[in-house]
Amino acid sequence: MSADKLSYPLKMHNTLGLAQTCHTLHEAHCCEELISLSQSAYDGDKPMLVLGGGSNLVFTEDYDGVVIKVLSKGIAVSEDEDHFYLTVQAGESWHGLVEYCLARNMPGLENLALIPGTVGAAPIQNIGAYGVEFCQVCDWVEYQDLSTATLIRLDNTACEFGYRESIFKQQLKNRIVITQVQIKLAKHWQPLLSYGPLQHLEAETVTPQAIFDCVCQVRQEKLPDPQVIGNVGSFFKNPLISAQQYLNLMKQHSDIVGYAQDDSRIKLAAGWLIDQAGLKGTSVGGAAVHKAQALVLINQGNATGENICDLAKKVMAEVEAKFGVKLEPEPRVMGRQGEINL
Ligand code: EPU
Repeated sequence: MSADKLSYPLKMHNTLGLAQTCHTLHEAHCCEELISLSQSAYDGDKPMLVLGGGSNLVFTEDYDGVVIKVLSKGIAVSEDEDHFYLTVQAGESWHGLVEYCLARNMPGLENLALIPGTVGAAPIQNIGAYGVEFCQVCDWVEYQDLSTATLIRLDNTACEFGYRESIFKQQLKNRIVITQVQIKLAKHWQPLLSYGPLQHLEAETVTPQAIFDCVCQVRQEKLPDPQVIGNVGSFFKNPLISAQQYLNLMKQHSDIVGYAQDDSRIKLAAGWLIDQAGLKGTSVGGAAVHKAQALVLINQGNATGENICDLAKKVMAEVEAKFGVKLEPEPRVMGRQGEINL
């Protein structure tokens, strides 16, 4: 089923709640429909956008293109001696999948509870939270390559996952639609409790449900519910800097928050940098830096996409002026004809 409409409202389809419209919106209710709708939109003369939960998008103008809303559903489970394998359609809700696994005694996703968005969007920015990233549970990702009209399956390594990165954001950008993914969960479950707020849990006795509850509680305290206050989660990536730059910063800011990476670089907490720059609560029009978590920009009710972008630029400029560190935005910014730079 699909619905053709001129000036279709997008407010309900982006978690910032920005009141823009698009030229046409099609709904894809199954994998075959997703492939055929996106292939014909790609082959057409308007720009196209594949939309999952809309939790990583900033619309700055009305979008003069075709939006394909991914609503394909289905979870198939198989297993061998050591693993469960879940083949999941792109339109399933990520958090719904986490709950599904927990309810059926297939733990391993509990650290990733309450992340907004769809399963098909998860590989694109390699979603991650509380010590776990999507790449740690991904077996393969299947997509339609719209430039060659072929269906392709990439194994984990071929997805080139990194921190909030993957091949889908790089070489394959703008020419694919993810159709389904396979998640691989080890039957020998091991709790992952390295991340700050989970460290008080006892590894020997903790249950997947207790981790799920703890993650949900921490997220609910820090991150605004997009149903209530429009937001896209973290607006900036945590920046990676050299060990030398970190040592220099430490001389002036001894309490700076950073995490050592395997490659000797340091990942700084962008939320800390923004907070220390005194920007919590700062606003531009209807957009503001969230008071409980400086990494989140919110729509106070009447923000435009431009307000959000102007605020983001102000945050970036002030953090760079104070710390000499460049912040990189996480969400995609959409203009009239397609993606634009902030
Ligand atoms: N901090 C402050 N002030 C703030 C915010 C944070 O001082 O306003 C400090 C905290 O005290 C903490 C450090 O910064 O010492 C890190 O903060 P937090 O633990 O809240 O995590 P984060 O780095 O802000 C990242 C992810 C989140 C993810 C959490 C938990 C990125 C860009 N963000 O946030 O992901 O939920 O860790 O793992 O990597 C998302 O991508 O949308 C997202 C929410």
